[in-house]
Amino acid sequence: MADRTQVIEALERAAPGRASGITVAADGLVGFVLAVDGLDRAAAGRLQAEVEAAVRAVAGVTGVRAILTADRGLAPAEPAKAEKPIRRILAVASGKGGVGKSTVAANVAVSLAAQGYSVGLLDADINGPSVPTLLGLSGRALLDNGRLQPMVAHGIKALSIGMMTDPDKAVVWRGPMAASAMTQMIDHADWGELDVLIIDLPPGTGDIQLTMAQKIKPDGAIIVSTPQDLALIDARKAISMFAQVDVQVLGLVENMSVFVCPHCGGHSHIFGEHGAEDEAARIGVPFLGGIPLHAAIREASDAGRPPAALATEQAAPYREIAMRVAQRLNLAAGRAS
Ligand SMILES: Nc1ncnc2c1ncn2[C@@H]1O[C@H](COP(=O)(O)OP(=O)(O)OP(=O)(O)O)[C@@H](O)[C@H]1O
Ligand SMILES: [Mg+2]
Repeated sequence: MADRTQVIEALERAAPGRASGITVAADGLVGFVLAVDGLDRAAAGRLQAEVEAAVRAVAGVTGVRAILTADRGLAPAEPAKAEKPIRRILAVASGKGGVGKSTVAANVAVSLAAQGYSVGLLDADINGPSVPTLLGLSGRALLDNGRLQPMVAHGIKALSIGMMTDPDKAVVWRGPMAASAMTQMIDHADWGELDVLIIDLPPGTGDIQLTMAQKIKPDGAIIVSTPQDLALIDARKAISMFAQVDVQVLGLVENMSVFVCPHCGGHSHIFGEHGAEDEAARIGVPFLGGIPLHAAIREASDAGRPPAALATEQAAPYREIAMRVAQRLNLAAGRAS
């Protein structure tokens, strides 16, 4: 016969204050009522299993019968945690401004979507958001059930501070504030399932960029550079910034690598040939490809028609870079069905 005091002690240890109506029969069968008020169904089940095991461990106990009650009701079930809805995060950075970083980010995003991936684009450039223009989006992002809804264009979902603030009002944010605004836009906006979220970081390698890289923890980064800064001092700064925060640099994109004359179609290597490619090799970073400087790219971009979405030759370099990025990010593994 089990000792009643030991049974009560075991119950109190496993579920303090929740057991009552305890009976210990001569044949070692223990019965009790377990109050599970305030727990949800799953938690109540777990508690029952723990309590029964604790009682069964008492010497002489041959069986346990618990009756669950919830006079004040069960808590609503916790929503099932979705398996990581954003599978990869890719940061697009540059050592300095005006090198075509946003254009690369938007067009790589559009190309990846065309290749069958579900893609989000987050414009983290708080001072000069350009994603709405590049995608031809205007107006504000809406809130639904307290969640910010990304806007959809050219097969991708996009969010930008430019969809939230008055475009004429300058936003002055310091590093930590900007970084936490971005992590909120990643974690709390309604992105749904994404194979990859591409983040267009603000240009440069200052405090804001560093804090963002640190907080967002992208799975990889690409660095956009022009051949002008041929020694690529600025690109190198971006590479060492990511090294500081342990983010892998997937490669270097050379933008405006060759000038294509809109009149004769002739190619001029104004800044010399293979500069970025050679430099990438020298600093041990993969070269992801070059994009020619072409008036059609600027015109289409300014008109909100991403060149990657057009059936012209301007789409090709973005498509190739996107394929290499997908490979280096191992995107196929998490590909949405
Ligand atoms: N390959 C290209 N050929 C022609 N024009 C281009 C090319 N790439 C970008 N541009 C143009 O150069 C300008 C700057 O590009 P973009 O805004 O992408 O640069 P950025 O590096 O993001 O600039 P910022 O530092 O202001 O964020 C834009 O007008 C864009 O249309
Ligand atoms: Mg930009």
